[in-house]
Amino acid sequence: MDVLDGFKTVQREGWSHFAPMAALTTVPAARLVRYAGVQPADRVLDVACGTGVVAITAARIGAHVIGLDLTPSLLSIARDNAALAGVTIEFREGDCETLPFEDASFDVVVSQYGHIFAPRPAVATAEMLRVLKRGGTLAFSTWPPELFVGRLFTLVSRYASPPPTGVEHPSLWGDPAVVRDRLGAAVTDLRFDRDTMVIPSLSPQHSRDATERTAGPVVALIQQLREQDPRSLDAFRREYEALTAEYWTENTMRQGYLLTRATKA
Ligand SMILES: C[S@@+](CC[C@H](N)C(=O)[O-])C[C@H]1O[C@@H](n2cnc3c(N)ncnc32)[C@H](O)[C@@H]1O
Repeated sequence: MDVLDGFKTVQREGWSHFAPMAALTTVPAARLVRYAGVQPADRVLDVACGTGVVAITAARIGAHVIGLDLTPSLLSIARDNAALAGVTIEFREGDCETLPFEDASFDVVVSQYGHIFAPRPAVATAEMLRVLKRGGTLAFSTWPPELFVGRLFTLVSRYASPPPTGVEHPSLWGDPAVVRDRLGAAVTDLRFDRDTMVIPSLSPQHSRDATERTAGPVVALIQQLREQDPRSLDAFRREYEALTAEYWTENTMRQGYLLTRATKA
């Protein structure tokens, strides 16, 4: 198997536990759909759609939506969610590095904390722009490296086995200078904003426990440390809780994120 295929297989397994976290990504999904300016009858692609929170929000305002994700078990939940919400959405299993759509198929391409996990940002960016119509909107939510989730990614990288060569760090998508460089002359009207995910959490330990069970890269790391290095697992957990404590107050975690929007030139 190609090393990147192997990397994606591990990602798929890690993300298959993500469904409970979708309760937390539901509110920012509405923020992203509004930020992207989705209009009724727009053709919208939700890249790395997970359980469909962004896709369903867009479909509920009348857009024609396709959701694509690497992880089939999440897509199955997404289909149930769409049926429950009474909207029709096509959910497809796929990889954002090889989107199975014609050029210029969509008015809007969105991704919430999703395309950042594609190992090669240049490939995912080219694909998302390829399937977008000229004048269409690209919008996504990402994690700045200097805020909680970005710092957590860095902590995870210190304990995890190194990724294959060429795999870039997901939180680089949270740095406006990097995003500007990656989108380059392919877009105009590039704009950035910030918002905060507010998460009920009984203690920093509860926050750690929930993330360990659900967030792909952390799920994979915990499994690796349990099998290979239980002492490091304790050290990782101590560092995790110390980091969490910086963002935890009054039974609430505050996770700042970056919104990006641009028009395809
Ligand atoms: C943090 S979850 C976000 C899910 C959803 N967008 C939300 O906001 O709830 C990350 C998602 O990225 C998906 N993913 C990771 N790598 C991918 C890839 N190369 N192509 C498509 N989806 C991918 C995972 O399966 C997972 O559903």
